[in-house]
Amino acid sequence: MTYLLHRSTRAKLDLGVSGKGIYIHLADGRRVIDASGGPAVACIGHGNARVADAMAEQAKKIAFMHNMFFTSEPAEALGELLVGEEPGGLCRVFLVSSGSEAMEACLKMALQYHTESGEPQRTHFISRWQGYHGNTFGALSASGHRARRSIYEPVLMQSFSHVSPCFPFHHKPDGQSDENYVATLAQELENEFARVGPNRVAAFVAETVVGASTGCVTAVPGYFKAIREVCDRHGALLILDEVMCGMGRTGRTHAWEYEGVSPDLQAVAKGMGGGYGSVGAMLISRKVIEALENGTGVFVHGHTYQAHPVAAAAALEVQRIIREEDLIGNVQKLSPVLTGMLADRFSQHPHVADIRGRGFFIALEFQQDRETKTSFAPERQFSDRLRRVGLENGIAIYPNGGTIDGARGDHVIIAPPFNVTAGEIEEIVSRLERSINKTVELVGAA
Ligand SMILES: Cc1ncc(COP(=O)(O)O)c(C=O)c1O
Repeated sequence: MTYLLHRSTRAKLDLGVSGKGIYIHLADGRRVIDASGGPAVACIGHGNARVADAMAEQAKKIAFMHNMFFTSEPAEALGELLVGEEPGGLCRVFLVSSGSEAMEACLKMALQYHTESGEPQRTHFISRWQGYHGNTFGALSASGHRARRSIYEPVLMQSFSHVSPCFPFHHKPDGQSDENYVATLAQELENEFARVGPNRVAAFVAETVVGASTGCVTAVPGYFKAIREVCDRHGALLILDEVMCGMGRTGRTHAWEYEGVSPDLQAVAKGMGGGYGSVGAMLISRKVIEALENGTGVFVHGHTYQAHPVAAAAALEVQRIIREEDLIGNVQKLSPVLTGMLADRFSQHPHVADIRGRGFFIALEFQQDRETKTSFAPERQFSDRLRRVGLENGIAIYPNGGTIDGARGDHVIIAPPFNVTAGEIEEIVSRLERSINKTVELVGAA
């Protein structure tokens, strides 16, 4: 019996009572490896006493002050840590409590930027199919995740439209060069700007590495440069959503560091607080903040819990640990170990079609027949069954269906904490292999 509405009224959730490192300890005595940190959240592992102490210390001093009147030491220090060195021209931070809130802030700030700049008619956003930006109405309108949009479609905002994702594994025709593929996608975006009309688009929105909906899909080289060029030519902002892929997960603090572009506005969340605090942020470029400073100076947006002192203390300590222990260096060092072991076990696996991603953000895509790239029928619920079988085998992973087009396809994300060891990676891959083989047996491969 529960009084809580969980994600499903039929769900029977295990009771987790504590955690240490990569392990979650359940009330019945089992220990489960958290191999994905939920949706790529737990970046320094569970049960970190230093973070717990920092949070307790702040809570004892003062847990909450309203951000309309007061600021706090950890929030100020976190801001400096995040943008003190102006990465990619980002120089100001708006602290919130989740990824969706970070994305809402980016969307609203884009509108306000144009209003402050004398172009209030720029009220349209272009994003991509198969991207996910959050579950609040604005962020969901930007999202191209068909299942999550489904019943809300009639009330999602008409001021958002979508173009094709950069998803070469499924959408780049055989024989086409990367350059050509990029040119096709840039032209599609150009056409969408033309369709919406001159000086109407506020921003283009994309995940730098697509997470939940397609499984760790990196763009082909040159894609983001081409997209940035189209945005610049049309006076639209570039919003990059790094809620899942950012803050070190790919082996660099920001996933855009691989792309040769930086955004005008950026959303970060999950790995920023590592799960210790409910925290996210909008990172703001100098160009955008100057428009606000030279205009009204007042961001027409806000939340009661923005810049929450305890959440900020949690994120600050997590980020300090990542720097002091060079954990992003560990991601760079051990990512080849993870991908190497996955390749050893799965590159010839009859039902693993692709192994992809960057750093500690790696996905396996499954197919019934890898030669013809035929996915398992959605009714077989491969990814959901894999999640359940994984738990029986003592491993929590992050599977999702609808990989290819929102309906067909299955993948699973492996996103261990940045301080995982090579031995632990080996255990993750073994349990994953057992779980995949058992799931294939259950759904029936034929
Ligand atoms: C890329 C991306 N953006 C935004 C969100 C929304 O974040 P939250 O669930 O914290 O609201 C998510 C969550 O999975 C995400 O993966």
